[in-house]
Amino acid sequence: MSERRKVTVVGAGNVGATCAQELARRDYADVVLVDIKEGLAAGKALDVNQAGAVLGYEPKAVGSTGYDESAGSDVVVVTAGVPRTGDMSRDDLVATNEKIVGSVTREVAEHSPDAILLVVSNPLDAMCHVARNVSDWPKERVFGMAGILDTARFSAFIAWETGSSVKDVSAMVLGGHGDQMVSVVSATTVGGVPLRKLLPDARIAELVERTAAGGGELVKLLGTSAWYAPGAAAAQMVDAIMLDEKRVLPCTAYLEGEYGIEGLYMAVPVKLGARGIEKIVELDLTDDERSALEASAEAVREVVSVLSS
Ligand code: APR
Repeated sequence: MSERRKVTVVGAGNVGATCAQELARRDYADVVLVDIKEGLAAGKALDVNQAGAVLGYEPKAVGSTGYDESAGSDVVVVTAGVPRTGDMSRDDLVATNEKIVGSVTREVAEHSPDAILLVVSNPLDAMCHVARNVSDWPKERVFGMAGILDTARFSAFIAWETGSSVKDVSAMVLGGHGDQMVSVVSATTVGGVPLRKLLPDARIAELVERTAAGGGELVKLLGTSAWYAPGAAAAQMVDAIMLDEKRVLPCTAYLEGEYGIEGLYMAVPVKLGARGIEKIVELDLTDDERSALEASAEAVREVVSVLSS
């Protein structure tokens, strides 16, 4: 019986397994993978463990079809669901993934009542609402991963375009995890220099557009949604929580008046630590950015209105 703390990842598919592998490599907690598909979580956990012998981490991952092994988790990452395929918009996923995320949340609430619930399943903003409604947990402990991923895409494009290291790019993408997400250009710098000083507005607009369509670009190439960046982004959020890093990261948080938005999950910068979302950080947005955020909120409201509860 391990004395280490525990992180569970539900859904051992592309995103879940990538996240689990990232976390196993960190070696600060035991990792439990859960998947409804017989043998999948057990097989992926076995593979992750054997990779540990090569990469130098403890082989303590466990995979199962049930939730007993996950009991008492500190953080549960939910990646269970159906991924978006080429002929499917993110919004088409609502009905199927609402059922899946709802049933997973019920199990998590029963087996790990004190956990922090990190939702990754799409459509993300709506699935956060499902997780919060079903668990009835405080908003500080139920939130989603999207902003880090969207920001990562924008950052990569900026690094290529400016010929800079991505490590020196500091960007921020907020709003719903959909085509109307908002790249906050006013808060984006490369090595401390505002992006607007480095690139012409028209070129920046193209990068912003590519970022907003970033998920779709991957789906077109892969025939399914991405997993390396989403898995790594979820693991970064788990780090911030498990290691109480107090990092400011764009996460999908429940807004109650912040940014002028009421009762809606959207990506905003938050301080992330051991208690989950410890603070929502309010950036000074330009008028254009503020109205773009409002339009994005409207798009999220539309998807949320499709939910059955
Ligand atoms: N309980 C547990 N696991 C489930 C359940 C359930 N009720 N329903 C489905 N799953 C599992 C599937 O068996 C599958 O292994 O969820 C896994 C999803 O994995 P993939 O199909 O590979 O999908 P993935 O690419 O990982 O995406 C998962 O994350 O980024 C989002 O849009 C993406 O919503 C999707 C989710």
